[in-house]
Amino acid sequence: MTDLWVRGGTVVTARRTFPGDVLVRDGRIAAVVERTSGGAPFSPSGDVRVLDASGLYVLPGLVDVHVHFREPGLTHKEDFSTGTAAAACGGVTTVLEMPNTDPPVSRPAILDAKAARLAGRAYVDYGLYAVIDESNYAELPGLAAAGAIAFKLFLGPTTGDIRAPGWGRLMEVFETVARLGLPLVVHAEDRDVIEYWQARVAQEAAGGDAQDVPGQASAGPAGAAGVDYRRFLATRPRFGEVAATQTVCLLAGFSGARVHIAHVSIAQSVDIIREAKDRGAPVTAETCPPYLLMTAEDCERLGPVAKILPPIRDAADRDRLWQGLAENTLDIIATDHAPHLSEEKEGKPWLTAPGGMIGVETLLPALLTEASRGRLSLNQLVRWTSTRPAEIFGLAPRKGDIRPGADGDLVLVDPGARWTVRAEDLHSKSKASPLLGTELVGRVVHTVLRGQVVVEDGRLVSGPLGERLLPSDPGGQGKE
Ligand code: DOR
Ligand code: ZN
Repeated sequence: MTDLWVRGGTVVTARRTFPGDVLVRDGRIAAVVERTSGGAPFSPSGDVRVLDASGLYVLPGLVDVHVHFREPGLTHKEDFSTGTAAAACGGVTTVLEMPNTDPPVSRPAILDAKAARLAGRAYVDYGLYAVIDESNYAELPGLAAAGAIAFKLFLGPTTGDIRAPGWGRLMEVFETVARLGLPLVVHAEDRDVIEYWQARVAQEAAGGDAQDVPGQASAGPAGAAGVDYRRFLATRPRFGEVAATQTVCLLAGFSGARVHIAHVSIAQSVDIIREAKDRGAPVTAETCPPYLLMTAEDCERLGPVAKILPPIRDAADRDRLWQGLAENTLDIIATDHAPHLSEEKEGKPWLTAPGGMIGVETLLPALLTEASRGRLSLNQLVRWTSTRPAEIFGLAPRKGDIRPGADGDLVLVDPGARWTVRAEDLHSKSKASPLLGTELVGRVVHTVLRGQVVVEDGRLVSGPLGERLLPSDPGGQGKE
């Protein structure tokens, strides 16, 4: 394989920013050399491809631990080729893909079939989640043996409507997961709280007596149409996220399971996670760009394209999430890239429109834009979107850093380039992004996957070179 010499750029890691060259050999970083005045850093022998990085920042490829690429079963919204192409064009070189597909990934045979179906189709490296549902408790060791990268537990209703076991069984589940050693990612919203308030808001909207709450009411289209964003928020009360987050943090402490709280959306959860970490509970947490960049007012303006679960709330929540990242209470930023077609969302009632929006292709440019405004440093950006996610999910030191021995996964960005997000430029099947028409500052120029240029001058130029990542060997050989 030809060596790749990334020459003349500014290297950005979670710790440092410096003028440096990177040499990738046989897919791995062979050398990182700080350029001092004069002297050529490398004198490579044999075949070398030079990638000119002058004027560009060279970051480790991003690791997005929360994407939904919808395959199998929901491929009209996204498939593995389009999802991973979007990732590559966004500078994301590793994705961990969620199990709420059709069928959900709840048994080893389903995971095996999914892996077989996806082989040779991805443009970036990927790991596959398995789900914990209300009845697959006995399958968890088999799912781990089949190479699940982590488990996902949905405590609240969302796409796929996968039910969780009750709290009693969950104690056992957490203990089993602790023994298996895989991370357990939790959607921490309480189903009981949500179902009660969904029924109540739907009944009010239908003109019923708000005192008389039915057990099974669902929002009929007529009533639902009158429900505005604030009433929709009432169907997912803060208490639902608080109760679930608190209980899950307690279970992590009791069981020793490595729990990762997905998409933290409110200030109160940040405080709970802080306390849990201070007690020594094995908890990590993520938030997502929509919660960091938008508020309820934006949702009211944009309509249900901006519906995500848990929902986007207030400026005080947004500010606390940024603070939570800065103080290391929140560990990472992931996208929760959750495609639904525009026609599935636009013009639909808040109550019944599907929750989720795309984001994997705009994650890095959106954060570069925030960096240009001083919201975060580039080192924090790398830490939150590459280095820490790789560590938490057992992919370090292979992924998430620019250092000798790591995979040659790099993204080269032009930090000053201004561009406007247009639907026709996005690679996802869904174009339902709140950023359409927005000017961003900072553009992905080249993406390198294990030493191979997959995106050049913003265009996908490679075949599907992505490989599946297995948790078995975090040191580096964990691919099929
Ligand atoms: O908004 C969301 N969409 N939240 C989730 O938890 C799931 C996701 C999806 O799969 O559509
Ligand atoms: Zn999700």
